[in-house]
Amino acid sequence: MLGTRMIVLGIESSCDETAVGVVQDGHMLRSNIVASSMSLHAQYGGVVPEIAARSHIEAIIPVIEEALAAAKCTWNDIDAIAVTYGAGLNGSLLIGVLAARTLAIIKRKPLYAVNHVIGHIYANFLTQTTLKGYQMRRQQPEFPMLGIIVSGGHSQLAIWRNHFDYTLLGQTQDDAIGEAFDKVAKIIGLPYPGGINVSRLAQQGNRDAFQLPKARMAGKYDFSFSGIKTAVLRLAQEQVGKDYSLPSYELSGLLNEQQKADIAASFQRVACETIADKALLAYQEFVPKSVVVGGGVAANTELRECLARTLPYSIEYLDLKLCGDNGAMIAALGCFHAMEQQATANPYTLETAPNLSM
Ligand code: KG4
Ligand code: ZN
Repeated sequence: MLGTRMIVLGIESSCDETAVGVVQDGHMLRSNIVASSMSLHAQYGGVVPEIAARSHIEAIIPVIEEALAAAKCTWNDIDAIAVTYGAGLNGSLLIGVLAARTLAIIKRKPLYAVNHVIGHIYANFLTQTTLKGYQMRRQQPEFPMLGIIVSGGHSQLAIWRNHFDYTLLGQTQDDAIGEAFDKVAKIIGLPYPGGINVSRLAQQGNRDAFQLPKARMAGKYDFSFSGIKTAVLRLAQEQVGKDYSLPSYELSGLLNEQQKADIAASFQRVACETIADKALLAYQEFVPKSVVVGGGVAANTELRECLARTLPYSIEYLDLKLCGDNGAMIAALGCFHAMEQQATANPYTLETAPNLSM
């Protein structure tokens, strides 16, 4: 494929972002348009699947058109379409998949069905852009590559020997790290989406104020974040002098600002250390040539600092606009599907896979 230009349009709709990106040759970011229905969910404290699905229906066509225009492309320039077919909310995935299937048929383009979680990792292959305001990685990751996935739905470690040749080392057995951030945010009364708000408040707190437990897992590389969430709840109840019968929604009104900040900082430290500890074990066992991080929580400064302290490797991070859900990561992975001659999907039959694993 060297020397041949491959331009892929990637469609992502697995949660509350309707996102479309255009990527050339797996490394050149040409557009990245994200429409989020997050503000509509904020009043409910989390994503409402029906609202997300309806928002995707309204946004999908305009976002595709905007992504093409921003990439200075017409459909003639697009060589293939890639779409997230899982994992995610089924009603949300359906809109992206049906749009991609329809376009693949009427525009006569090959269609690639892409795994959302692997897409987060492949955002790290973007090294150049025609767009303003992006801080791009200097070079593409080398194999073997250790991938750390930290998002609202996933916490995973995987080792890639080559494109499409990877082993999942471990994953969360219950909540994902982003989900734990969001739940802790709720306990201390911070608005949805919680992760960014917890990390902001943590800056005012003492991260050694409280000792929260790290889960011990049977699987060397597995995670669990539900225990720490419950520990935060008990800690908050204790701090206001109440027992476990106090409903969690009454807590935030009773905690003072310093207590909230100390809880945020203590939780964030332990959650980040949990990821970094396991990443170090994997680094020592597999001696990767590169380590990459993907997913919304990759934006977290404490996690970045913690990994820098723990690993004997300096990680190149993604631009914040490429950490959370986006279409560019799907387009980037789609390019590799095409360039590495992976099987295309049948546009007449491709189904969603809400519980898709790696
Ligand atoms: O990758 P993503 O956009 O969606 C999923 O695939 O889940 O990740 C969203 C998650 C949410 O849980 C959000 O609270 C968390 O990423 N998040 C953060 C930060 N920014 C987003 N968590 C901690 N610190 C942040 N700065
Ligand atoms: Zn995601």
